[in-house]
Amino acid sequence: MYVAVMGFGTVGSGVAELIYKNHDSIVKKSMQDSLEVKYILDIRDFPDNQFADKMIKDFNIILNDPEIEIVVETMGGVTFAYDFVKKLLLAGKSVVTSNKELVAKHGFELLTIAEEKNVNFLFEASVGGGIPIIRPITQCLAANEIDEIAGILNGTTNYILTKMITEKQSFDEALAKAQELGYAEKDPTADVDGHDACRKICILSALSFGKHVYPESVQTEGIRNIKLSDVAYAASWGGVIKLIANAKKLDNGQVNVTVAPRFVPYHSQLASVDDVFNAVLIKGDATGEVVFYGKGAGKMPTASAVVADVIDAAKHTKKKKNFGWADAEENYVADYLAAETALYVRGTTDNKDAVIKALNDKIGAVRVLTRDGAPENEIAFVTNPDAEGKLRNGIESAEGLNVESIIRVADL
Ligand code: HSE
Repeated sequence: MYVAVMGFGTVGSGVAELIYKNHDSIVKKSMQDSLEVKYILDIRDFPDNQFADKMIKDFNIILNDPEIEIVVETMGGVTFAYDFVKKLLLAGKSVVTSNKELVAKHGFELLTIAEEKNVNFLFEASVGGGIPIIRPITQCLAANEIDEIAGILNGTTNYILTKMITEKQSFDEALAKAQELGYAEKDPTADVDGHDACRKICILSALSFGKHVYPESVQTEGIRNIKLSDVAYAASWGGVIKLIANAKKLDNGQVNVTVAPRFVPYHSQLASVDDVFNAVLIKGDATGEVVFYGKGAGKMPTASAVVADVIDAAKHTKKKKNFGWADAEENYVADYLAAETALYVRGTTDNKDAVIKALNDKIGAVRVLTRDGAPENEIAFVTNPDAEGKLRNGIESAEGLNVESIIRVADL
């Protein structure tokens, strides 16, 4: 059997290397006589590379070669990836991808085409890199009704927050270090502003609850505005700040899906997930809480997940796996302001007693927090849980309170 790899970047090159490093066992597990990479598509030249003789620049060579049954897409981005993957599926080839943006935006459509063509569209590597999570949700946990998923799904932001918590580095210092170590992209927007984690929770939500979640429908907030004072208040409250991607099924058929920094209590299983590690916590009605933990990025961990999908696709040629989800109606994702949560608030005031009294009148009792070295006019507190919109209205209307930071409290 022949496969092609599109995109010879970090993950694509890892895929080609892994297929040859563990070649014999991969062939055996694929239940094929052979499994070879025939083409590697990339617009760049790699003259000295061990795979130089497989390099091509014309996508149509892959599309039109009947010997190619499985194509690995590790190009990233959506424009070309979407066009190429759609054409390949329509041509009856199975596709394996690590591209979370592609799956989050076009997963429903591409899975539907795969179904029609009786081929496979697999994406284990799109969430959590090397952490097995797609198959566990769709196979191992299949007997459960999943109620909620909460995850630390972005290694870069988790590294930055860990440095802020353990070494008191500022956000800018920690981001610079993450870039130096190659964790964060030069343009760190997708990581730092939560878009990468958003794409991943969209995929996990679709798999768990059966309907596509489009990234633009998800309230997505990043970690740019977190200050060391917030980290200190979280500690005095009894926890840490983590970027949490969350999806929860509601009784009315809607889902709550958000990506936002949250106070996470020390006793939560997610509180001790540090550095570039990822973790996904799943609440099943039969299993209770299950946590998956490991490296969410990196060349070989991600290649490991991609090649596992190649093996699976090789074992299921012309046999679409029962795997997918439906499209979602408008308003499938509920208004995040209606969801119940507690809020942490930091601000300034010239009259703390009056502000606390006003808050008590509007939103009920609040728990006042303290930290060493706080300026005289600084105030910080945590509310009781209530509808987020109602809490925000009450806080905004508390006279004399100048709000500087609001962070949700995780119910984990
Ligand atoms: N940049 C991502 C992260 C890895 O930091 O987790 C790929 O999704």
